[in-house]
Amino acid sequence: MAYGKIPDSVIEAVLKHHDIVETVAKYVHLSKHGKYMKGLCPFHSEKTPSFTVTPEKGIFYCYGCGKGGNAIKFIEEIEEYSFPEAVRVMAEEAGIPIAWGGAPEGQRGDEGNGERDKLVQAHELAVKLYHYLLMNTTHGQPALQYLRSRGVTDKQIDQFSIGYAPPEWDTLARFLEKREFDPALMEKGGLLIGKQDRSGYIDRFRDRIMFPIWNRDGKPIALAGRMLGEGQPKYLNSPETMLFNKSRNLYNFHHARAAMRKNRRVVLFEGYMDIVKAWSAGVQNGVASMGTSLTEEHAAVLQRNADEAVICYDGDNAGQAAALKSIPILEKAGLKVQVAMLPKGMDPDEFIEANGANAFMREIIEHPVSATKFKLLYAKKNHILLEEEGQKNYLLEAVRIIAVLDSPTEREFYLKELSREFDMSLESLKQDCFNERQQLQKMKPQRDNNDNSWNNGRNENRENRRKSSAPPVLPAYQVAERKLLAQMLQSADTAGAVHRKLGEAFHVEDHAALAAYLYAYYAQGHDPDVSRFIASLQDDRLERTAASILMMDDDMPFDEQLLDDYVNEIVKVPKLREVEEKKEAMVRAERSGDMLKAAQIASEIIALERQLKGR
Ligand code: CTP
Ligand code: MN
Repeated sequence: MAYGKIPDSVIEAVLKHHDIVETVAKYVHLSKHGKYMKGLCPFHSEKTPSFTVTPEKGIFYCYGCGKGGNAIKFIEEIEEYSFPEAVRVMAEEAGIPIAWGGAPEGQRGDEGNGERDKLVQAHELAVKLYHYLLMNTTHGQPALQYLRSRGVTDKQIDQFSIGYAPPEWDTLARFLEKREFDPALMEKGGLLIGKQDRSGYIDRFRDRIMFPIWNRDGKPIALAGRMLGEGQPKYLNSPETMLFNKSRNLYNFHHARAAMRKNRRVVLFEGYMDIVKAWSAGVQNGVASMGTSLTEEHAAVLQRNADEAVICYDGDNAGQAAALKSIPILEKAGLKVQVAMLPKGMDPDEFIEANGANAFMREIIEHPVSATKFKLLYAKKNHILLEEEGQKNYLLEAVRIIAVLDSPTEREFYLKELSREFDMSLESLKQDCFNERQQLQKMKPQRDNNDNSWNNGRNENRENRRKSSAPPVLPAYQVAERKLLAQMLQSADTAGAVHRKLGEAFHVEDHAALAAYLYAYYAQGHDPDVSRFIASLQDDRLERTAASILMMDDDMPFDEQLLDDYVNEIVKVPKLREVEEKKEAMVRAERSGDMLKAAQIASEIIALERQLKGR
């Protein structure tokens, strides 16, 4: 089985050194339940744990989302590494020598990734070129002046590799061509644009200040170009490419990750300039979602690195509306959300320019309001509080906002605040709040434990979260296949017996594949080792299937009789299918009035059924 260039011995050593429980426990709080450990799944949001770890078998499996595998797989998933990356990092941690294949850093595991690597290289060159042109040429002077006029220092320009794309049509096109990059690929990657008449290629970015966008490893994968001064469009961004996915990538993530993980907190901004300025003001855990609204995917990435999110969007209406939209997305991912509010109409960059870094940290970043408080303030703006009607309407809306809170203490806290502010009795507010909660209970669909969207005040996306933890009922032969595989994974003898009796005649494709791999695994002289076997699969779906099979509660003693029963259950499937088909044919014959044919089929069915029983 192929591990690419990574030798088996390295994978073995990595798995030996990284205990599954220790590996997972760095990310998930686990508690012991008999033979296995349980916790809240880090890969999907849930309120009751369906994520399990079996130390004995060295694997994890989530009943909610179906993710599963060994320790390497866990690191792959949680850190979003490729398989070779995960092995490398884990090997390094364990002090295992990692000189395999001789591939230098940045080019590991590159078979099949030729295009992506080329494209990253092209981006690296483009970033260097643009940065050089900004800092060292007369061409770049106006752009440099503009940046300085906005208070961007040379240090910041270096740190964020800011550059300048000159106004000529083909600066980058010629530069890349000289270095023999395939222009068609460069177009696919968003750096160049093919001319209409197909006579050649031109640069996508011209006469713009360039901000590189990096992936999580700090490789540039896209660019954003800002006009010097005013005009439309203010920003021109790389399109979505094989490297760049707007709903997943976050600007500055790779810089921010260390600080984020350290203080378990992330600050969300709207724009590039905000990130750059806030960084030197002291916010080193800031990321921005580049002009698209925050997605569930963004939130999932953040949740793996932080427990709290502080939203610091522009102080204008658009910014505040975007903040309101981001709150439930972040909460649903399991983050505690606060909002750092800016004075009306200011963005973080402007605030820092006007009031300095200290004021920004002290007054804004270190004094966020709770998500509920923010919603109340936001709602307030829509009512004319000087009028009785406006006051009443606001109060009712405020109660609705408060009613979704789970904690009675929190509800009372905000209700008290309202009662003081509007000189209302706490009792009446509480009564309204109670009624509102009753309404909510009624509207709520039958409560799924993993669904907490109802208390976020927004109901959309509920569908996405519906992941029932009750496993589907499988047909008997599929259960039999899974039971057999579970035993085969843990015993070479059983695998041998099944091989003789059944071969690869499993009906579920993945089961047949697992069986085939297992036969090969034992044929190579390996002893049963679930976690190692899984490592050899190199296939997401198979790994999950293997993990889910191993997680079945199988305390039933296993013996030859049971093995035969399972095998029979599987081999009779074609006959069962034949019976079904014959029954249909019989009905058709009856309908067309061919009673003779119908009778003949009926006797065939009886014969088949007799055979089935006889086995
Ligand atoms: N944006 C974009 N395309 C535009 C306008 C905005 O992609 N035409 C994205 C950019 O990621 C930008 C963010 O939305 O950083 C926020 O927009 P805005 O607040 O208008 O820009 P700023 O980042 O504040 O830029 P500047 O301060 O230079 O005006
Ligand atoms: Mn701005």
